[in-house]
Amino acid sequence: MVDQHDTSQRRSSAWFGADGKVGFVHRSKMFNRGGQASMFDGRPVIGIANSASELAPCNAHLGQVAESVKRGVLMAGGVPLEFPTISLGETLMRPSAMLFRNLMAMDVEETLRANPLDGVILLGGCDKTVPAQVMGALSVDLPTIMVTGGPALNGRFRGESIGSGTHVWKFSEEVRAGRMSECEFRSAEACLSRSAGHCTTMGTASTMACVAEALGLSLPGSAVVPAVDAGRHRIAEQAGQRIVAMVEEDLAPSRVLDRRSFENAVRVNAAIGGSTNAVVHLLAMAGRAEVDLRLEDFDRLAADVPLLVDLMPSGRFLMEELHDAGGLPAVISELGDLLDRDALTVTGRTLGENCADAPNWRPDVVRPREGPLAEPGSHTAVLRGSLAPDGAVIKLSAASPHLTKHTGPALVFDTIEDYDAVKDSPDLPVTADTVLVVRNAGPVGYPGMPEIGNLAIPKALLDQGVDDMVRITDGRMSGTSYGTVVLHVAPEAACGGPLALLRTGDLVALDVSARRLDMDVSEAVLRERAAELPSGAAAHGRPERGSGWASLYRSHVTQADTGADLDFLIGRRGHAVPRRHL
Ligand code: FES
Ligand code: MG
Repeated sequence: MVDQHDTSQRRSSAWFGADGKVGFVHRSKMFNRGGQASMFDGRPVIGIANSASELAPCNAHLGQVAESVKRGVLMAGGVPLEFPTISLGETLMRPSAMLFRNLMAMDVEETLRANPLDGVILLGGCDKTVPAQVMGALSVDLPTIMVTGGPALNGRFRGESIGSGTHVWKFSEEVRAGRMSECEFRSAEACLSRSAGHCTTMGTASTMACVAEALGLSLPGSAVVPAVDAGRHRIAEQAGQRIVAMVEEDLAPSRVLDRRSFENAVRVNAAIGGSTNAVVHLLAMAGRAEVDLRLEDFDRLAADVPLLVDLMPSGRFLMEELHDAGGLPAVISELGDLLDRDALTVTGRTLGENCADAPNWRPDVVRPREGPLAEPGSHTAVLRGSLAPDGAVIKLSAASPHLTKHTGPALVFDTIEDYDAVKDSPDLPVTADTVLVVRNAGPVGYPGMPEIGNLAIPKALLDQGVDDMVRITDGRMSGTSYGTVVLHVAPEAACGGPLALLRTGDLVALDVSARRLDMDVSEAVLRERAAELPSGAAAHGRPERGSGWASLYRSHVTQADTGADLDFLIGRRGHAVPRRHL
């Protein structure tokens, strides 16, 4: 063995640096593709956790990104070892990719801990893949850098940019309203996804990439570089180089992330008009990092943060333009003292040092603080009240201002399927004042808290020219959607939340400025209704168990207001392995 590295300190040396039969077995099998003894002289062994999959088209190109990471690791004197992780494709997985976020986090956590790794690069992109990988890695706490796959090029249709998700919802409503033909709709289909990469709007994928950068877990400037831009590969290469140094510095996430990092991420999420899904994911990630972050923090911390980034669904542009503007460093720079600039990042420098004097080349895309797209406090509001004792959220920047204080009669559906069956009926008893409610879409109830919240507007209203109404659910909505939609109601209906007691015709009052969501039903009536609910597990917390993953998930998932992680996965478990078979 060469002494260039201190092999005794390295985690991987417990495998590769061992003497006798043990070291022989660990090393010799690794030589089955070539390689030589110097690979295992104590140099940092870097895992590349790759969620590439053809079933997750947003991540399908990550194999090429992994090659760039490897180049960087080798340049810096490390040994890159790529391995696959579970992947979660937002568009294809049923019943909901969210059902499997915690499963993917478990896969990442256990694979990292069980193998001879000193540091890790996480490669993800599509919505759930980034939080899942980060959650798993935070529980293990090896030096970690998140490298996202980057957004696709802007969709182009009839001379205009069209955005992932946002234009799908828009066009499909136009078809239902008779303003767009089926044929036109089909021709837009091939124009939306122009290249490799994740969604182009400020949906959940773009949001989580920005959030990872704001947390300090990604290299500065990396979140918004398009997937097919050479810069994406440069960043991957730099991350490969940097992770080797991070191993030498023992710069694990527990040293990088603290309460300040999460506060910064919450504030950046408000400034970029980020997805409501970031609320659930950040709460879950904070749980893994053992940082005390609460649902109320999303409202309180964002209260003085203006909406600066003019991207769909809240604004006009797409990720390519945000890249032109200078990416997240331009946003961080504009936010100035609204962020804690002393928070550490994976570069070993602070957020402020990373982004000092970062230019903003497109003030039309990243607005200056003096001329924001929307005033401070117009992003995510956290509501409480008799309908949501443990909280609910609404994305104000995507809501209609005239509906944010509204009282109307509820029209209640027990399942999304029940609503879908009648949404086009001309006889549906709705007016523009109706409050549309779909329940049993929470983590336990569905299961997996699907993105059904932006319920289609009933056809009867579309025909009258109504294109928004108050909608309420215990599920989530896609980060690419818009509308006056109250989400993440907790406790959910399936766990005995008062949403289960609401009936069609009850008056529901939404008052965003008072942060209230209430139903006008007396305590006595609610008690009567509660007594009439079916008895058994469904009425008292958890529905009947089945088998398989869904049953484990339903038995242990926490409610939306604490991140919908599994209760036994919260926290940091470290990377020590107490026993070995060899
Ligand atoms: Fe993968 Fe939107 S579907 S990022
Ligand atoms: Mg989504």
